[in-house]
Amino acid sequence: SSSLPEAYTIRPLQRSDYSAGFLDVLRVLTTVGDIDEAGWDGHYDFMAKRDDTYYIVVVVDGKGKIVGCGTLVVERKFIHNLGKVGHIEDIAVAKDQQGKKLGLRIIQALDYISEQVGCYKSILDCSEANEGFYVKCGYKRAGLEMAHYY
Ligand code: ACO
Repeated sequence: SSSLPEAYTIRPLQRSDYSAGFLDVLRVLTTVGDIDEAGWDGHYDFMAKRDDTYYIVVVVDGKGKIVGCGTLVVERKFIHNLGKVGHIEDIAVAKDQQGKKLGLRIIQALDYISEQVGCYKSILDCSEANEGFYVKCGYKRAGLEMAHYY
């Protein structure tokens, strides 16, 4: 896969990213709420203890600010010979950074991890408005999303 813009990097989320802009990038996607540093630390540590299940990547600009992010959750199954399925979640690129292929790079990174850890597929839910983006990333329409909100 091709490279990021000059000076941009992609790396795993770190505990020290609380103030690096990660939560602001997620606000592009939906409501995040007011997360204090203790809440962040506890949540980060929960995921870090399960680092074979939660993979969060961030794109960082030349100034160290997080401008994009994405999550892969690896689900262990009994079917398909104790198979694994990758769930792509919470893909977001800062508004003023969209259209620079950062989203594509994030999906490529998560797909790479998913395949490397032995998932037989990766799946995601998205709006019709984002279908074209995921098609460009190599995904295709499959099934129908349903939700039960509580
Ligand atoms: N519809 C059709 N094509 C698109 C769209 C779209 N909505 N968005 C991007 N593309 C195309 C681009 O034009 C580009 O095509 P090209 O290779 O022919 O030039 C290709 O897809 C790659 O685009 P990127 O530049 O990598 O896209 P970007 O970095 O802007 O990221 C994203 C796309 C993540 C959808 C971004 O616009 C965003 O953060 N949107 C708001 C949050 C959101 O909706 N996130 C996805 C939620 S679904 C989920 O998380 C599973």
